[in-house]
Amino acid sequence: MLLDPGMSLTLRPMRYPAFFERYRDAIKNTWTVEEVDLHSDLADLGKLSDAERHLVSRLVAFFATGDTIVANNLVLNLYQHVNAPEARLYLSRQLFEEAVHVQFYLNLLDTYVPDEQERFEAFAAVENIPSISRKADFCFRWIDSLGDLKELRTREDRRAFLLNLICFAACIEGLFFYGAFAYVYFLRSRGLLNGLASGTNWVFRDESMHMAFAFDVVEVARAEEPDLFDDDLIAQVKAMLAEAVDCEAQFAEDLLGGGVSGMSITDMRHYLEHVADRRLAQLGIPPLYGAKNPFAFMELQDVQELSNFFERKVSAYQVGVTGTVTFDADF
Ligand SMILES: [Fe+2]
Ligand SMILES: [Fe+2]
Repeated sequence: MLLDPGMSLTLRPMRYPAFFERYRDAIKNTWTVEEVDLHSDLADLGKLSDAERHLVSRLVAFFATGDTIVANNLVLNLYQHVNAPEARLYLSRQLFEEAVHVQFYLNLLDTYVPDEQERFEAFAAVENIPSISRKADFCFRWIDSLGDLKELRTREDRRAFLLNLICFAACIEGLFFYGAFAYVYFLRSRGLLNGLASGTNWVFRDESMHMAFAFDVVEVARAEEPDLFDDDLIAQVKAMLAEAVDCEAQFAEDLLGGGVSGMSITDMRHYLEHVADRRLAQLGIPPLYGAKNPFAFMELQDVQELSNFFERKVSAYQVGVTGTVTFDADF
């Protein structure tokens, strides 16, 4: 079974071809930090109100360390326990993508925050800024929840693992990051920081796929061992998501507390509740909140993502053809 201890090496016959397909799909979505021009944002930064500037500086401080935390959990917990080589191929690819995200946000900080001391403070936000340290503590608590667990021997071990996996997919990638993306697309809807939004399109796409893979793993584990997914586990998932919504709502109070025109703390809370309900639905769990999405610019985002993805596939294909022609001409 997928969560059995060990180091399965057998790719043929392949037990979970769907994981291998996710790996191949992820490779089609390759992008590099150098493709994103953030310098076009610099003029916009000078135009922001004090409240908007506060929002951006907090957002950047969250981005400074968010993906590094996710990458650590991937290596420390997920790779260790998802015992199929095709699934580990996907996780290897995800680790690369998290590295690209870390590099993207490093570039963001270097560009947006020229002052060295301020940059240092952004990286220390997990210790010094309460709304960010609360989220970081939530992540660290779930990383540590597996403690020194080297093998998933018992039903309890496996349930602990599933909770960690669901936490990182549904609460961290699927809620903390989605909350952060909402600020970026709100700013874009006001004509601001288009460079950040263009890089965020790629990160958004990657995070959606990370989540989809994690939910696949949950589905497989659930099908193989239905007794793992009992009422107790469902209650724990609901409590975890409710706590994540509260953490992210506190972050929203910090970011929007200065009065950002066009984005209210109440709307952000409803957006987070709406996203949390969607994550529960993906896990086959009834909604907690019944909240509607108040942000039209996030609905548009889904459509835009899709068109970007298909444009990307066409241009990547064209690059491949050009390469081949050049190669033939030279030889
Ligand atoms: Fe990421
Ligand atoms: Fe991710």
